[in-house]
Amino acid sequence: MSGVIKTVSLAVSVLLCVFLLSVPGASGGMAAEGRRVFVERGCGECHTTERPLRRPTFEEFLTEKGPPLWYAGSKFRKGWLKEWLTSPEPVRPMAYNSLKERNPDNHPALGSKEAEAVAEYLATLKVEGLKRGVVRPEKNVRGRIIFEKKLGCYGCHLVRKGRRIVGGLSGPSLVGAGRRLEPDWIYAFLKDKNLFVPYTSMPVYVGIITDREMRILSGYVASME
Ligand code: HEC
Ligand code: HEC
Repeated sequence: MSGVIKTVSLAVSVLLCVFLLSVPGASGGMAAEGRRVFVERGCGECHTTERPLRRPTFEEFLTEKGPPLWYAGSKFRKGWLKEWLTSPEPVRPMAYNSLKERNPDNHPALGSKEAEAVAEYLATLKVEGLKRGVVRPEKNVRGRIIFEKKLGCYGCHLVRKGRRIVGGLSGPSLVGAGRRLEPDWIYAFLKDKNLFVPYTSMPVYVGIITDREMRILSGYVASME
């Protein structure tokens, strides 16, 4: 009898171990693998993955060779990240941190397994306190008027208009922004741009449009194809 109980309890503990190892470990293990790939491939030479303790000076910022990634998990849609890392198409028409040179279009690419793991790792890099579920993607007319007419966002950003791609070249392209960017991050960025990219030519719009208009505008950008 006690033999049976022992066998049963052994089986239960084995099952429990398998359960504990497999369920929470699956994506955690993948993220850890992604972090390893990130370090090994030297991604950290150009990208920061930790929130800076203080605002960098302009000179320090100019030495950063790629956009910060410490908030990548709040900014990007995971599906987009994985796809882009396997075949990185230029996002910024200009070279990063420069208004003079063209984007050299030479970003390192990853194999699909590595890209999946790195995307999983980057998805863990979240901004603390960023509210989710505030902005819904919506092709609204008010957002379009603010974007095109009131604030002239497309003086600096490329967008799709019918069959054509129009707009300025100094900011990242917003063609396909709906597939690339998290709606709530767009709103957070418009509200506190300098937290994310401390020095850019992009103006601060707080106090120029209302908070409500900012949400409408964010929803519009988040619907861009
Ligand atoms: C030599 C510097 C350099 C290295 C090394 C590098 N990157 Fe980049 N990365 C850049 C630049 C510059 C951009 C902006 C490209 C663009 O806008 O088209 C970028 C863009 C990105 C983006 C999109 C960020 C955004 O805000 O648009 C991600 C994600 C990314 N890199 C991940 C990686 C990963 C993962 C690795 C390692 C496999 C890596 N990078 C290696 C310079 C680098
Ligand atoms: C004078 C030029 C300029 C204007 C005007 C401008 N932007 Fe930007 N924008 C930029 C630059 C430069 C960046 C960040 C550069 C970088 O990360 O490489 C940026 C970044 C962004 C981003 C983040 C994109 C990403 O992939 O990192 C969004 C979203 C955005 N702008 C939306 C807007 C909206 C909406 C407006 C109008 C209310 C606007 N911008 C007006 C230049 C501009």
